[in-house]
Amino acid sequence: MAKEKTVFTCTDCGGTCPKWLGKCPACGAWNTLIESVAESTSSAKHRFASLAKTAEVMALGDIEASDMARTPTGHEELDRVLGGGMVEGGVVLIGGDPGIGKSTLLLQALDSLQRSGQKTLYVTGEESGAQVALRAQRLGLLNSKVNVLAEIQLEKILSTLSATQPHIAVIDSIQTVYSDQLTSAPGSVAQVRECAAHLTRLAKASGICIVLVGHVTKEGALAGPRVLEHMVDTVLYFEGDTHSSFRLVRAIKNRFGAVNEIGVFAMTERGLKGVSNPSAIFLSQHAEPVPGSCVMVTLEGTRPLLVEIQALVDSGGPSPRRLSVGLDKDRLAMLLAVLHRHAGVACMDQDVFVNAVGGVRISEPAADLAVMLSIASSLRGKPLPKGFIAFGEVGLAGEVRPAPRGQERLKEAAKLGFSSAIVPKANAPKKSALKEFEGLTIHAVDRIEEAMQVVRALN
Ligand code: TYD
Ligand code: MG
Repeated sequence: MAKEKTVFTCTDCGGTCPKWLGKCPACGAWNTLIESVAESTSSAKHRFASLAKTAEVMALGDIEASDMARTPTGHEELDRVLGGGMVEGGVVLIGGDPGIGKSTLLLQALDSLQRSGQKTLYVTGEESGAQVALRAQRLGLLNSKVNVLAEIQLEKILSTLSATQPHIAVIDSIQTVYSDQLTSAPGSVAQVRECAAHLTRLAKASGICIVLVGHVTKEGALAGPRVLEHMVDTVLYFEGDTHSSFRLVRAIKNRFGAVNEIGVFAMTERGLKGVSNPSAIFLSQHAEPVPGSCVMVTLEGTRPLLVEIQALVDSGGPSPRRLSVGLDKDRLAMLLAVLHRHAGVACMDQDVFVNAVGGVRISEPAADLAVMLSIASSLRGKPLPKGFIAFGEVGLAGEVRPAPRGQERLKEAAKLGFSSAIVPKANAPKKSALKEFEGLTIHAVDRIEEAMQVVRALN
């Protein structure tokens, strides 16, 4: 095929330039030019033809709202994050650390889809067909009819997809695919963007549901340009500690369903198995309470999840370190300042480490109270009471703000046998409803110093 002309496009201003330069000539930004295929005006005109099929103008109220037909994957936890199943013509991007189980989960899903009568294709760019077969054998997928294609060249993948018309295709991974049209190396921003754009266009035009596997960078974001996340319909992240067997699949974006829904899996000898009642799996088992540990109830999608927050405060050197795993680092610095200013807990000359147990990532501010109480507990060397939970956002003025759906969180804690809780005042249940939280003593607080007093009184 004749090579098409490539140009360099600025990711900031969209200006183009015929050759690579360190600085964009249009807007002056540094290091923003990336290679892309120059489109002739005629092909550019048709670029989104498949996306907009109707030309008629209609009033919004007259358009019939039809829900998408979904194909369940046969894995309940995966369907939950997808919003019910795979959608025709939908493009799903699934990211996660190496070895977390992306290929395993997708192979399992394809196999059950194939067994339910859907035509599937697994395009592998990272492993050979034999390696995929070996994994299938390990997973106990005997006589699997999933079609496998070991290929990394985009043009060949596209023509195979068009020729075979599977219902669902997996590209494992998008970073290994390259297009002949670009000179840059596979995995580069330009290649990933171009290949994903072509695959997305094909999915929309042909109705094939395409799942792209993406790598994550050291920082934990999906490798490749941010545009990748804009291009696709659904973005899923695989989370979890490779040392523990539990894995979370989280929806970050979903045009066909709710976001922040999670699917919980356990990695077993024979692949990933869904965990349907996950609320207590992230609690580590201490016979007696230890200093620096506080359990919180976080809300993941529709399900409450109990997570242990651990803190270690230890005397540091001249420039003490603040390190957080699974929690926001900037927020930790802020909470330490609030602790000092409003509760008189000073950690200026101390190293502070905090960790959400089990490799969970908590992004909601409702973790604030548990983080602060565990830090104070570690500093004082005094454990929090047995069977204790806390949640609530803490503001810069030291006020404790309510967490969304607090009653649900409390109910889950009561169900699991926790006996005392510190919660924001607005989350405290009414007197008449207290029966539902039997066994759980609820202390409602307005401010962080109040929370500290309650803990001292409980000790
Ligand atoms: P894999 O799906 O290859 O990860 P990814 O595609 O995200 O890089 O998962 C590989 C890991 O899972 C590997 O460490 C072995 C483990 N594993 C099991 O524990 N049980 C199994 O049945 C399989 C297939 C893999
Ligand atoms: Mg893999």
